[in-house]
This record gives sequence, C-alpha cells and structure tokens, in this order.
Amino acid sequence: MLETAARDRIMVALDCDRDRAFELADLLAGHATWLKVGMTLFYAEGPAIVRAFKDRGFKVFLDLKLHDIPHQVRGAARSAALAGADLITVHGLGASKMLAAARGGVEEAAAELGFRPQVIAVTVLTSMDQAALDEIGVERPVADEAAALASLAREAGIDGVVCSPQEAAGMRALLGPEALVVTPGVRPAGSAAGDQSRVATPAQAVAAGASHIVVGRPITEAQSPVDAFEAIAAEMQRA
Ligand code: C5P
Repeated sequence: MLETAARDRIMVALDCDRDRAFELADLLAGHATWLKVGMTLFYAEGPAIVRAFKDRGFKVFLDLKLHDIPHQVRGAARSAALAGADLITVHGLGASKMLAAARGGVEEAAAELGFRPQVIAVTVLTSMDQAALDEIGVERPVADEAAALASLAREAGIDGVVCSPQEAAGMRALLGPEALVVTPGVRPAGSAAGDQSRVATPAQAVAAGASHIVVGRPITEAQSPVDAFEAIAAEMQRA
C-alpha cells in the first residue's frame, strides 16, 4: 500500500450538485484516481452517477455508510458493487453478522464483475464525542469503542476502516500493514478547517499510517482544484 503513488491515495469528496460534480470530474481527469460519492450526490442522482464517473476512468468510493439488517445490507452492498463502486462503507455498529453480510454482498457481485470491491467500516463517527456515546449508552472511551469495532470488522472480513487522522496510527497498528486506513478531516497547512475539528495535514495523515486520505472542500472549493490536488499529492510524495 505504501508504495502506491500519492495521487492514487487521494480521494476527492464531491459533496455538491450534479453539474458541479461533473465539472470537477472533468477538471480532475488525468490527475485524480479516486472520487468519493456520498449520500448527498447519490440520493439525488442514483447509481448512474457512479457509472458516469467509472466511464470517465475514475475509481469510485461510494460512501453510503450502510447500517441495516444483514439481509438488506447484503443486497445494498451487492447493488453498490454492481453499480461500479470500487470501495464502500458500512457501520461497524451493525455488528458481525451485518459486517459479514456486507462482505458477502460484494462477493456475490464479484462473481459477476470479475473483481471484488473493497469494504471499509466506520467505527465511531468523528462527529461523535464521549458525551454523544454516553447519550446512546456506550460507556467505554471513544478510542476503545473505535478499536473494538475495528477488530470486529476485521474478523468479519472487512478490508479496513475510515477514521480520523488522530486514530490512524492506532488503527494501522491494530489492523496490520495491508488494511485500508482511510482518513477524512485532512487539511493542507493554511487551508480553512470548515466544520472539521480534529484535522491533520496530508503529510501528517500519511505519516500516521493512512493508506488514503479523503479531501473535499480544500480541493473542490479551491480557485484551481487541479493545483490544490497536485499540491496535496506533492506534499504526500515528500512525506
Ligand atoms: O470537505 P471535507 O474535506 O471536509 O470533506 C470530507 C469528506 O469526508 C466529506 O465527504 C465527509 O462526509 C467525509 N467524512 C468525514 N468524516 C468522517 C467520515 C466521512 O468528514 N468521519
């Protein structure tokens, strides 16, 4: 994983409307490898948006954070994979059977596709703090909860986790060198944090063990998204 070129390790989050998403995709073609489609774009545009980006040569990270009964999650994971997603997310809180069902769903799709998309687990949402865990009756510390859910996910055949850069080193140590450790909350030095609170620079995220970083607004809202993307890739390469 670590020898992968920097540009292949940046996932550009397109949290915008369709027209802007296509504009950004056209700009970033030939630069970025990965685009991230989240709920905002997917619920508006459906699987066609995944296919459209695939047809333009991108890999697609479909971040729908599946969390339902195992039967439904199996079907959703299969559908997401057949839509063309290369990577999908599932909530660790769904527990072993649901996590295994997500893995099963992509395997079913793999039989048709000829390759198996990967699945990563969200442990504790980075927007949640100890008070939020208390509200839902989770008493153990956030870090312990995240580690426990990550271990559960690994045992269920999940390929890695999405976590904050602050958790990346711990997750890398826990999950080993092959796991995907995908970190949002990344901000190049000097750029606006927006609503992200626990941020790290691309170099810090990589040094902590992230296999991939998710970057949205520092690229999508930059005057030149391509220059912003290339600056981040260069910073990661140096790291
Ligand atoms: O614009 P920005 O770089 O903050 O975008 C980060 C992206 O990563 C968004 O699409 C957001 O939904 C996603 N994300 C996150 N924190 C998580 C999981 C996903 O910011 N814990």
